[in-house]
Amino acid sequence: MEKLRKKGKKIGFVPTMGYLHEGHIKLIREARKKSDIVVVSIFVNPTQFSRGEDYEIYPRDEKRDLKICRNEKVDYVFLPEVKEMYPDGYETFVQVEELQKPLCGMFRPGHFRGVATVVSKLFNIVKPHLAFFGLKDYQQALIIKKLVRDLSFDVKIELVETARDSDGLALSSRNEYLSEEERKLASFIPQALIMAKKMIDNGEENPQKIKSECTKFLEEKGIKVQYFELANPDTLQIQTEKIDKKNYLVALAVFIGKTRLIDNFFVKNGKIFNFPKKQKGEE
Ligand code: PAF
Repeated sequence: MEKLRKKGKKIGFVPTMGYLHEGHIKLIREARKKSDIVVVSIFVNPTQFSRGEDYEIYPRDEKRDLKICRNEKVDYVFLPEVKEMYPDGYETFVQVEELQKPLCGMFRPGHFRGVATVVSKLFNIVKPHLAFFGLKDYQQALIIKKLVRDLSFDVKIELVETARDSDGLALSSRNEYLSEEERKLASFIPQALIMAKKMIDNGEENPQKIKSECTKFLEEKGIKVQYFELANPDTLQIQTEKIDKKNYLVALAVFIGKTRLIDNFFVKNGKIFNFPKKQKGEE
């Protein structure tokens, strides 16, 4: 990579845990558009899984992933072994102190420490100019932006909207775990986000009310809600009193059977992003 950098090539990097889907392809295509050299890493990072989570069974298909990368004309695929990333005696970790606490951080202790650590290592190894992340993992995206700033990494973070199925469900490697029945239920996830937006547009200002009605909507369908929150989109501080209609994040994590899924949309300076339903004027 050093040689390519010296030649003035712009390196775009898409870090992944493999089992690539249209969401990853969207990131790769964005990287292609904005860089000369595209690098994809595939590494199921053990340090971001808490005990009892799905590290062992996380879906993996290296052959298929490599085929997708070949089709997308990815220039380099980095597929490190766990021992290479975390040699014996490994003991250095990166933490973004406050942003890692709310939302997913409340329920997945150590998760964002694992993400921040592996992403820092990947940046040091790949040395990209640009790195591409999906907005489905909104908290992760903010944490990575913050660590880049705080640790002075020389990389620009590009965030890409969530790729969704036709019913609005956010694409995720974990959708693979869903049975046919569960997949049908999953379409209520984007509907709950749409419901929250409608309530806000209709003048509801109380975050607790939105939270409780949307949670009720999902739970009545048999979906277990881990959290449904309205937060400040920059600090992730939970909005408990009154919604700031120009700046808010609606984020959720649910369980459908044993499968944990997350989704979100957010409004910044009055503009909406990552919403499951197309807005007027969108392609
Ligand atoms: O979003 C992911 O797939 C992972 O958290 C990442 C950023 C590749 C780090 O392991």
